[in-house]
Amino acid sequence: MKISAILLAAGQGTRMKSSLPKVLHPVAGKPMIWHALRAVATSTTEKPVVVIGHGADEVKGYLGESAQTVRQEPQLGTGHAVMAAENLLRGRSDLVVVCYADMPLLRGETLQKLVETQKQNKGPMSLLTVVADDPRGFGRIVRGRDGTVSAIVEEYVATPEQLQIKELNVGGYCFDAKWLWEALKRIPKNPKKGEYYLTDTVELAVKDGLSVHATAMDDLEEIIGVNTRAHLAEVEAAMRRRINEAHMLNGVTMIDPASSYIEADVKIGRDTTIMPNTYLQGKTELGEGNVVGPNTVVRDTKIGNGCKILASVLEGATLENDVDMGPFARLRKGAHLGNHVHMGNFGEVKDSHLAEGVKMGHFSYIGNAKIGANTNIGAGTITCNYDGEKKHNTEIGADVFIGSDTMLVAPLKLGDGSRTGAGAVVTKDVQEDTLVVGMPARAIRKLERKSKKK
Ligand code: UD1
Ligand code: CA
Repeated sequence: MKISAILLAAGQGTRMKSSLPKVLHPVAGKPMIWHALRAVATSTTEKPVVVIGHGADEVKGYLGESAQTVRQEPQLGTGHAVMAAENLLRGRSDLVVVCYADMPLLRGETLQKLVETQKQNKGPMSLLTVVADDPRGFGRIVRGRDGTVSAIVEEYVATPEQLQIKELNVGGYCFDAKWLWEALKRIPKNPKKGEYYLTDTVELAVKDGLSVHATAMDDLEEIIGVNTRAHLAEVEAAMRRRINEAHMLNGVTMIDPASSYIEADVKIGRDTTIMPNTYLQGKTELGEGNVVGPNTVVRDTKIGNGCKILASVLEGATLENDVDMGPFARLRKGAHLGNHVHMGNFGEVKDSHLAEGVKMGHFSYIGNAKIGANTNIGAGTITCNYDGEKKHNTEIGADVFIGSDTMLVAPLKLGDGSRTGAGAVVTKDVQEDTLVVGMPARAIRKLERKSKKK
């Protein structure tokens, strides 16, 4: 059986008061529509169709190959929007799931249940409803004396009696495809707004003598649609709880889940502890037994096991195991820290590899560098990697001791076991096991190394 999905995303989203199309506003670091696409993916068999209109180019640009798109121009209501998808789908699917792209909390499992319900239903459509005290401006589900669904009435046209109805239209539907395409043509133009409402298909089915199935949901959070920034914050908080709960069930400790901001794609191994006010963003992956935070931002970074990261900012970096960082350290793109690297306060590393056991305790900048195992970077060391036009590389060997406040003027190589005196300005390569001092630093004597040469 072929099951397609149509996501409606053409509306203006006026109440967001934004130049960004509504469905591109992020929730847990991903555009709202990403969440909607993820939800429909689990219940359908075909590539989804997204109906776009306002901000069409931007939305299409974001979607890329992940969905088919069709433009609805002008936007004459939700029924009219579904009509726009007919050419792409007619004859190509048996069931059609329709939902709105501004409901990022709607779960895939819920849509799966909806589809299962429609498979059993002899009538042409099933829809999701919820019973709630706060009507949120939703359409009301009108049922006949025998309890069957007879209509959906939008709030602004509802009678005082209908306004009291607590069963609401969530905005998730599953249709028999053939019936849908014919029914859409019969939707009457709404006299007040001149629009075509998808919700009027309910009355059409009832007129045809066919039954409409309503599946009541019990999770009230799932139905929150985003129309304003206040709704957006509400959805963000609910999504955060949902994401954090899943991590905790997988063995992650969170001291304060409410202040742990973890984006949708992040992976965390067990026995890792997330301290308060920590942001894990983008394609971040953490292994096991780490302690991250408090007050830490980690973005697009891979972290092994047993690392401790306190009050630091990491972006586009890789950490192997047992790295100890912070407070107030910063890793930028291409920073790669090997096992047991120690990085103390006010250090910055960019596009550099620090091999196992490197120590960099205080106030240093390392950029475009390779540092060998067990080298010690003294306080205030700077790789002077930029001459105003180009970046240059610095290669520091193993077991090197860089004295405090050394300036390493790249391009530069320092051999294994070499040493620089405090305040040295190194402009020329330094041979193995050699001590250099001064400004510019020059060789003064040969050294006896404590650790053996490899
Ligand atoms: C809709 C339902 C209402 C339901 C509520 C749940 C209708 C007529 N009403 O109302 O019963 O309780 O959702 O949130 O369907 N869109 C288009 N093209 C259009 C109009 C809308 O693509 O011409 C899209 C919007 O971008 C949005 C979705 O359809 O993603 C819903 O439209 P919206 O105007 O927000 O409908 P509601 O008034 O919320
Ligand atoms: Ca809405």
